[in-house]
Amino acid sequence: ARVPPPQNEPILPYTPGAPERTALQATLQRMASERIEIPVIIGGKHIRTGKTDPVRMPHKHSHVLATLHEADASHVEQAIQNALSVKDEWARIPFTERAAIFLRAAELLATRYRPILNAATMLGQSKTAHQAEIDAACEAIDFLRFNVHFAERLLAEQPLSSPQTWNLMDYRPLDGFVFAVAPFNFTSITLNLATAPAIMGNVVLLKPSSTSAFSSWYIMELLREAGLPDGVINFLPGDGPTIGNPALASPHLGGIHFTGSTPTFQGMWRTVGENIHRYKQYPRLVGETGGKDFIFAHASAADDVDALATAIVRGGFEYQGQKCSAASRVYVPESLWPKLKARVQEFTAELRMGDVTDFRNFMGAVIDEKSFKRVSSYIELAKQGGSEATIITGGDADRSEGWFVKPTVVQLTNPRHRIMQEEIFAPLVGVHVYPDARFEETLRECDQTAAYALTGAVFARDRKAISTAMRELRGTAGNFYINDKPTGAVVGQQPFGGSRNSGTNDKAGSMLNLVRWTSPRTIKENF
Ligand code: ALA
Repeated sequence: ARVPPPQNEPILPYTPGAPERTALQATLQRMASERIEIPVIIGGKHIRTGKTDPVRMPHKHSHVLATLHEADASHVEQAIQNALSVKDEWARIPFTERAAIFLRAAELLATRYRPILNAATMLGQSKTAHQAEIDAACEAIDFLRFNVHFAERLLAEQPLSSPQTWNLMDYRPLDGFVFAVAPFNFTSITLNLATAPAIMGNVVLLKPSSTSAFSSWYIMELLREAGLPDGVINFLPGDGPTIGNPALASPHLGGIHFTGSTPTFQGMWRTVGENIHRYKQYPRLVGETGGKDFIFAHASAADDVDALATAIVRGGFEYQGQKCSAASRVYVPESLWPKLKARVQEFTAELRMGDVTDFRNFMGAVIDEKSFKRVSSYIELAKQGGSEATIITGGDADRSEGWFVKPTVVQLTNPRHRIMQEEIFAPLVGVHVYPDARFEETLRECDQTAAYALTGAVFARDRKAISTAMRELRGTAGNFYINDKPTGAVVGQQPFGGSRNSGTNDKAGSMLNLVRWTSPRTIKENF
């Protein structure tokens, strides 16, 4: 029987006294005191390499959560050999049996593993309970269920045949292995990068981000418990180039599934180019990279300035502005600015920031010292900007206990100011105020300002203004929102990805992504 099309996993509310809150709090307490060891995993074997790094909580950096064992080049080689040795067996398992493993993982995550992955994401990545829930629970579950559904639909897609001739598409996995390289900011993305190729019958080397290896380890536990055979997904935490260089130089590289920074992906692409003569096939290069996501307001948004202010605050500051989709540059007509500015100041003044295990907090800390220093340097730039840059709210940071940065909004007279162009990945939003009559010119300015094209939002009531914005910003965002914040794409509803310097736009959470993990063979048989 066919599995019915999936539904999006409902978001649990975690209100005081709710059972999910009690379970989460108990898990948080246990995890914070355990100090586990996170091994390299090759062919199901746990390897404590001895080259270790402490995993710290971003919001309390004196607290060591875990000890991470790092892989080196020899582990990469072992993992490749191991993956290749199980590859044929994995690919031969009927799709329905492979699918059952991932559907079981989704069900385990919706139940017993829900507090585990949520707690790990809160402690290791400084997400609030709600931000963890929409990522490590709901989006992760959705990726598993929807990808199985999309894969099933893809496999059913067959060419025309006739009474004399039978034509078939044989959806083979890629030759070799897939190298999945994950970011710190979404636990669900880490899960998706590894499992989407595996659903299509591929074997995978997963390099988690060192700053989120804590939750990545529990993903591996979840998949093992769901019945994923050893060696299908191998786990290689550690230094990027140490792991990446040997993986990319392997003749068996079949593809890259990447989410992370633009420079890192460009570097990988260059390395692939340098090695191109070594490969048995052209590797599939799939990457989602940086963003400089915008909110563009038209004067006709005047009747709901609160909605616009909410979109700026939620889009810019949820998860400390560290979503690839986060709003980081805003264009506002002069007629709206006085009221909007007052609302943004009021709303940000109400935001609580601190330890994410205190459920009253809306924000935690940025991920690490490097990130803290980077955003601090941009805040400094704003402070020294004279009449060009005015801090509307925020502008403070405190590193004494955790990497805390106040939600900050800077008004910039120059729409090409560095704060309007460069990806900062932190709670810092630039605002450019334009004369109402220059709506179209400013749309074009928005299009040309940044080299990225991931997400963006337009706020307007006037249909003509919406149409003009849709046209002028056609190339500026792969995910385009009208009267909504630019974050929070839902699997199965808003397939996610962008172009330009934001990636290859192979829409995560859609059939378009799964297509990249197969190398179809066309078969013709004459009767
Ligand atoms: N799916 C995430 C969002 O849209 C990246 O915010």
